[in-house]
Amino acid sequence: MLKKTTIFLLLTTVCITLCNAQKKAPSTEEQSLKENFKDDFLIGAAVNSNQCKELNSEESILIKKEFNSITPENDLKWSNIHPRKDGFNFNLADKYVSFGEKNNMHIVGHTLIWHSQLASWAKRIQQKDTLKSTIANHINTIVKRYKGRINTWDVVNEALNEDGSPRESIFYTVMGGENYIDLAFDLAAKADPEATLVYNDYNVCNTQKLKGVLRIVKNLKNKDIKIDAVGIQAHWSLTEPSIETIEKTITSIAASGVQVMFTELDITVIPSPWDLEGAAVEQNYEQYENDSKMNPYKKRLPKKIDQKLAKRYEDIFNLFLKHKDKISRVTFWGVNDGQSWLNNWPIKGRTNYPLLFDTKNKPKSAYYLVNALKKK
Ligand code: GLA
Repeated sequence: MLKKTTIFLLLTTVCITLCNAQKKAPSTEEQSLKENFKDDFLIGAAVNSNQCKELNSEESILIKKEFNSITPENDLKWSNIHPRKDGFNFNLADKYVSFGEKNNMHIVGHTLIWHSQLASWAKRIQQKDTLKSTIANHINTIVKRYKGRINTWDVVNEALNEDGSPRESIFYTVMGGENYIDLAFDLAAKADPEATLVYNDYNVCNTQKLKGVLRIVKNLKNKDIKIDAVGIQAHWSLTEPSIETIEKTITSIAASGVQVMFTELDITVIPSPWDLEGAAVEQNYEQYENDSKMNPYKKRLPKKIDQKLAKRYEDIFNLFLKHKDKISRVTFWGVNDGQSWLNNWPIKGRTNYPLLFDTKNKPKSAYYLVNALKKK
């Protein structure tokens, strides 16, 4: 008799434990970033044209499950969308926008005015009026085409030097000052009054550069020209910028009267050949290409570094949650580690691990720690 009761009790305990374990196991929806942060901010990823064409089904499933916002990695950049003076190429941009609409995503237009990845015909313009009408044609044509469909525009990208002074790009020199920024924002606001307009840059957490960003915001606001947000690109490392510095940046930008967005988040875990001062894509360091010291985790990410990365992401998202009233979007620059530009910049042919998903689209430790913040 005693034996039977013991067996019965044992079986009941096993059953209850199993049922509880099943209850505790997160459902797929609960485990997604976009679901977990849905009351806080949008969660985005930069996508490439193959991803918009859904060529890889695993990647497609992941993008749809995890993200509610997308940014085009290259398809809307000037050299791609406006490669000839009288010729726009909307093919890939249309596919990008349709992909976002089909999946009910917040769609970002990146980017209207940027000195890099600019079509060579446009780089040759030397006359102010010609450049002015070219900018107007570029912005009007693109923004009006996607009016009401592209929700947010990165209107001007990287207009500043590291010390916060104006970058002497073709736009600045030919137009004779920062008036091209006013022009671009004004045109974009008129072309789609409902769109959210962003000034986007890297190293915004550096004091000097932040001053430059705040100057741009103030100048536009003083002239009653619409600007809605500052995009902090957030190409960061395991240690820099510090959480305190990021926090100061968030509060200063919010105090200037615009939203804060993290637009290109990734964390490099491998060495940089310089004292990381910038993320300008023109720089390249060929002399390090086959230097194994600069490519230490060629085969796999060591557990220790995976955990460091996870902790760094946890700290960053903790801060984002603290300031969720000021932050409207957090976008990763890429979906998985295999897609990241950091495998080829600043040194070509390395193996970096900057995102939440590995090359096989599997979540890394960072993914679980970031999601766990919402369960606390
Ligand atoms: C900058 C640009 C992005 C992208 C990244 C690196 O941050 O804004 O469009 O080119 O560099 O790929």
